[in-house]
Amino acid sequence: MDSSLIQQVEAMIAGEGNYIANLANVSALINQLASNINWVGFYFYEAESDQLVLGPFQGKPACIRINANQGVCGIAFAHNESQRVADVHQFPGHIACDAASQSELVIPFRLNNGVRGVFDLDAPIPNRFSQQDQAVLQECVRVLEHHNHY
Ligand code: SME
Repeated sequence: MDSSLIQQVEAMIAGEGNYIANLANVSALINQLASNINWVGFYFYEAESDQLVLGPFQGKPACIRINANQGVCGIAFAHNESQRVADVHQFPGHIACDAASQSELVIPFRLNNGVRGVFDLDAPIPNRFSQQDQAVLQECVRVLEHHNHY
């Protein structure tokens, strides 16, 4: 993924303050532009249940709730740190929402210095996500974080 994606995300959300609409369209944009992706979307933390809950996404219907320290998403959330997993079958506790998924990238979504959720991408091939992909997608998430108070 090249850095022009960042400008496309900025352009797409400019002028719109509704976060569900923006996160839905960002999922759709990345799903359309990125090759070899089978799922892309957001999970947000729900304090009452201590779980991540499914948000806007593109792909097959997915797990609705993930415990806050389980799976690739839960670990990224709990450690407040991106997780780039070349082979999900080697990741202890990986949650297989779609059996096709072989590699995964999860980026924390932060607001007011606190982690609020994650942005998750799955790929049907191993080792899909490069360091460059991670850097570009992290910047897209930063654009979303700074756009509004979600
Ligand atoms: N594989 C993720 C679960 C979410 S789905 O991929 C959409 C995980 O292990 O946290």
